[in-house]
Formats: sequence, structure tokens, C-alpha cells
Amino acid sequence: MKVVNLVSHPLLQHSLTILRDKNTTTETFVRHSAVVSQILILEATKNLKMENHPIETPITQTNGLQIRESLVFVPVLRAGISMLIPAREFLPWVSVGFIGLERDESTAKAREYYQKFPHDLDRKHVLVLDPMLATGGSLINTIQALQDKGAHKISAVCIVAAPEGIDALHKQFPAVDIFTAAIDSNLNNFKYIVPGLGDYGDRYFGT
Ligand code: PRP
Ligand code: URA
Repeated sequence: MKVVNLVSHPLLQHSLTILRDKNTTTETFVRHSAVVSQILILEATKNLKMENHPIETPITQTNGLQIRESLVFVPVLRAGISMLIPAREFLPWVSVGFIGLERDESTAKAREYYQKFPHDLDRKHVLVLDPMLATGGSLINTIQALQDKGAHKISAVCIVAAPEGIDALHKQFPAVDIFTAAIDSNLNNFKYIVPGLGDYGDRYFGT
């Protein structure tokens, strides 16, 4: 319960530093965003259930393994798209649900504008992809929406998390485990993560 997996790997830390640098160009931001996302996805899927899978190699019969657990990716639009693209390079057969949320600039409250999930969420492990966990409003809204549609095994994969967001999320959903590359210091008066990396969606999409 209340698990936060702080993922650390030299490649991830190197790329995260490039993401944080305000002088990083959009092109470079996109490249390093993929590196960080893939390492986080690897970590978030490392305990997937496996089953035996007998096969024949060109030489002989042998026992292999295949993934038994059904996954769903749910990127939180818009910034979550940045994590979906590299995630699907590893796991192209995983189904994808979408939720669109946008924080009001003045109140920092998330407003939902789109939702489309696969039907059989109750039998799947849902990985919510959202690079920034700030107040937690967007993730709380997403997880509530997923639970309303039957999901009960849910993990959140974030690139940077604020302590305030982690606490808020776990207060409401203690069973949701979080995978993140960094737990930053705090939120500023505008509810941006400090030190953070600014507005992830704007930096990734060059807006
Ligand atoms: C950002 C980010 C998260 C959210 C986090 O999205 O991608 O979804 O803020 O903040 P919270 O934890 O306080 O809810 P934003 O609303 O800026 O929309 P975008 O993805 O379209 O840029
Ligand atoms: N959303 C972002 O993109 N960055 C923050 O610091 C907070 C919310």
C-alpha cells in the first residue's frame, strides 16, 4: 500500500537533467523524453505475470515464457502522448484508453474534455501515463474515471512528482502504486513543480 517506486538509472538521470534544462530544444526534449519514459515503463512492467510457452527453435524444442497479464495504457492528454509513443515501441499489442484533462491556468484544477477506455478494464492492469504529478488533480480525476469503469489494478507512471501530488493521490487511492524518476521539492504559488521542468506539454509539443 502507498508504494512510490523512485526509479534510478544513469541513463534516466542523464536524460532527466536534459529535460529540466530550460535551454533544451524541442527536438532534444522529445528524444530524452522517450529515454526516460522507456526506462520507467520497463520498471513498471518488471513484475508482469508470465506463463510457460513451449516453442521450437531451429535446433530443438524448448520452454520459453510469454506475458500472461493484459495491460492497458492510459495516457493523460495531452502530455501523456509523449510517454505512449515510446511505450508502444516496446509493447505494440497493448490496448490504449484516452482521457483528456486540462488544468485551468488560474485555479490549477483539472477539467475533463475527453474519455475513451477499452471495455474490459476489470481484467486488465492499467498503466496511467502522465509526465507531471503536481497537485494530483489530473491523476485523481483519471483514476476515479477508470475505477468508475471497473478498473481495479492501476499504476501511475510519471516523470516528475511533487510530494503534494503523491500525498493527495495516495490519500484517495492508497493502492495505486507510483513509478517516477524524481520526487521534487514542492509546488510554487502557480502549482508548478519546483525545480521541475516547466510546462511539459508545451515543451514537448513546442507550443
Ligand atoms: C499537466 C500535466 C498533468 C497535469 C499535472 O497537464 O501533463 O496532466 O498538468 O498537474 P496536476 O497534478 O496539478 O493536475 P496540463 O493541464 O498542463 O495539460 P497538457 O497535458 O495539455 O499540457
Ligand atoms: N504541469 C506541468 O506541465 N508542469 C508542472 O510543473 C505542473 C503541472
